[in-house]
Amino acid sequence: MIFDVITIFPEIFHSFKNQSILKKAQEKGIIKIRIHNLRDFTHDPHKTVDDKPFGGGRGMVVKVEPIFKAISTLTKFKIQNSKFKITNKNSKIILFTPRGKKFNQKMATDFAKLDQLILICGRYEGVDERVAKYIADECLSIGKYVLMGGDLAALVVIEAIARLVPGVVGKSELLKERITESGGFIEYPQYTRPEIFEPLPGIKWKVPKVLLSGDHKKIEEWRKKHSKVIE
Ligand code: 6GU
Repeated sequence: MIFDVITIFPEIFHSFKNQSILKKAQEKGIIKIRIHNLRDFTHDPHKTVDDKPFGGGRGMVVKVEPIFKAISTLTKFKIQNSKFKITNKNSKIILFTPRGKKFNQKMATDFAKLDQLILICGRYEGVDERVAKYIADECLSIGKYVLMGGDLAALVVIEAIARLVPGVVGKSELLKERITESGGFIEYPQYTRPEIFEPLPGIKWKVPKVLLSGDHKKIEEWRKKHSKVIE
């Protein structure tokens, strides 16, 4: 699976891309993360990616033209009913915007089946609306708060999807047991040694006894009771 990221801040992505798990997955050829600098798709000497909003108002708006140029180098496409259509059915274009649909685990599961995701990171006061209207297949947000741009949102989405691509995370057989029918993920509390931790003399932070009992049926019941399903 290929992640193509279009951003004005490519440096944000480089250390993330080279973290151990994602690095190994890329070395094994399971995923590819390609970072594209939007400025490389401008043609003026100042490499202008933004401009003042029509109608007036605060701040600057990311231009549609460099985004179109960038995407047209990443995929084959046609224009149908005025809309950008990728020829490959297993590719999608996502625009990150605080006005987008809230990203969730179900979407991560669906996206993990694709061959290519093109991720457009907005910045400044916004992105020319023609990107949402004619180019992007989906507009996504990661939560009800406003960030300075879509870059961190793209990192979140890449990580959530990449760990679902077979072979990226080790022991996927064990993880499978924790995936629900609807693609959710079962999370329960985990403990490791020591059984009793003393942060200060006389204060004891203990591991629940049932987890030390070796009684697998009781342990399973305890985990079920304390589970949260992430969907
Ligand atoms: Cl995708 N972008 C921005 N700028 N803020 C956000 C967001 C995206 N998702 C949540 N807040």
